[in-house]
Amino acid sequence: MKADQPSATAIFVANGVWWVSNHPTLKVEVPALLGELNLQMVEHVNRGVDYRLGRTLLQVKVGLMQAVVMRGFYLHFVLRKRSIENYVRQAVQQHARQLIVIGAGFDTLSLRMAREHPELRIIEIDHPATQAWKRNALEKVIAGHSNVHLLPLDLTQQTLQQLLLSNEHYQPGVNTVFVAEGLTMYLSSKEVREILSFIKEASAPGSRFVFTYMEERRRDDFQFKFASRLVDFWLAMKGEQFTWGLGDGQLEPFLKQSDFQLLHCATHHELREELLSTANRQASLAVGENIVVAQWNQ
Ligand SMILES: C[S@@+](CC[C@H](N)C(=O)[O-])C[C@H]1O[C@@H](n2cnc3c(N)ncnc32)[C@H](O)[C@@H]1O
Repeated sequence: MKADQPSATAIFVANGVWWVSNHPTLKVEVPALLGELNLQMVEHVNRGVDYRLGRTLLQVKVGLMQAVVMRGFYLHFVLRKRSIENYVRQAVQQHARQLIVIGAGFDTLSLRMAREHPELRIIEIDHPATQAWKRNALEKVIAGHSNVHLLPLDLTQQTLQQLLLSNEHYQPGVNTVFVAEGLTMYLSSKEVREILSFIKEASAPGSRFVFTYMEERRRDDFQFKFASRLVDFWLAMKGEQFTWGLGDGQLEPFLKQSDFQLLHCATHHELREELLSTANRQASLAVGENIVVAQWNQ
């Protein structure tokens, strides 16, 4: 990503969720709180959306982008967020006392969970350039939750260990749920392994890692399955190319090597079957990014 600008893909995701929230038939797939908080973000990163003309222009621009790059992109973002929220809620109901969201971007999972669980320790970590925008956009909401802390980190410059183990808000050794939504595709295999190692080193056995990963489409090609070449071109322009993913049958061994057990892996099939309302069951949905729940078992 560009060091002095908020992540272009984080804006793309927030705008995509907003597009679904305004779609005549798909809007029912966006839970009210997700839509409400996301709207605040979208109004902050796109000027003029609080006016009718601004809204219409953004709707045309965002709709065109999806039509050119891939159908069902934005609905995928909404379902991936709902799926992750369900998995995090399950972990918290079972035993997690801390939530760490890595590469949070303009997603609002921490605020949604903070409202439901004021006792949960929550830390959001993101690139400083992206996080500064979020802090400004959601200042009042964030201030209303004393259990939510935003910590800036450029993962290419500093590790999670260096940031968290010296931070007063992080509690080592407790059962924790870590989340990385739409992040691992920008990392290397080594950097993903470092996250797994950190979880083992600095939290309790039974802690979970909820993350998304790209399926390898062809050798060293980690793009969404039916995405046009324009996606790679646009990502390269923004400095956010996809660099990591896993091929068929590689997920479980990858996790096992770091002592993690695979609990769930939701592909587009599960997202469609388990989350989409009957009326939208046939809607277009992107293929190629899966949602995983892995647990560290000592
Ligand atoms: C596609 S966005 C996903 C945002 C959010 N998790 C979501 O799904 O809505 C990718 C996120 O990764 C973050 N990111 C990318 N490279 C990073 C780095 N080197 N260090 C920290 N964060 C990074 C960006 O700032 C951005 O927020």
